[in-house]
Amino acid sequence: MPDDDHLHRLVYYSRNRIDGPLNEAVRTILAASRRNNAPLAVTGALMFNAGCFAQVLEGDRAVLESTFERIQQDPRHGDVSVLAFEPIAARSFGQWSMGFVGARPDHAAAFADVATASGFDPAVASGDEVLRALHGLALEDEDASA
Ligand SMILES: Cc1cc2nc3c(=O)[nH]c(=O)nc-3n(C[C@H](O)[C@H](O)[C@H](O)COP(=O)(O)O)c2cc1C
Repeated sequence: MPDDDHLHRLVYYSRNRIDGPLNEAVRTILAASRRNNAPLAVTGALMFNAGCFAQVLEGDRAVLESTFERIQQDPRHGDVSVLAFEPIAARSFGQWSMGFVGARPDHAAAFADVATASGFDPAVASGDEVLRALHGLALEDEDASA
């Protein structure tokens, strides 16, 4: 199990380049994420709408680097912009190998608000803002599905 002394958080957003049915593609991405992340002790959340993705990944620094290297190459998104990559004392998404925000229309709308307010410009949308938005909404989704 990776060493929690090196616990880091990576926050990025990207442009959605999915060609075809969005829900199906996102289901496939989530299934691969959960399968791969759980044994690596990577946790986090993924948010999407028609235009962009935002993702928070937490875990061992070296494990995050190799996981992100793979994610970055994925042709289903592009213009990947890292908002934060920093050490953290504790996980915010400890119970999710990959939480998902976007299933509920009001959450998709809330995400659209964050995206629109910032124009998804890395100079404007801070890693913290994306983290807070994802965390609040992922918690609500968890309650809703409980
Ligand atoms: C927006 C986005 C987020 C992704 N997040 C993850 C992730 O957290 N973990 C992961 O293993 N793969 C993630 N992927 C998928 C990877 O790019 C890649 O397709 C997958 O890891 C390959 O896994 P496999 O070789 O087990 O099929 C993501 C892809 C996209 C487009």
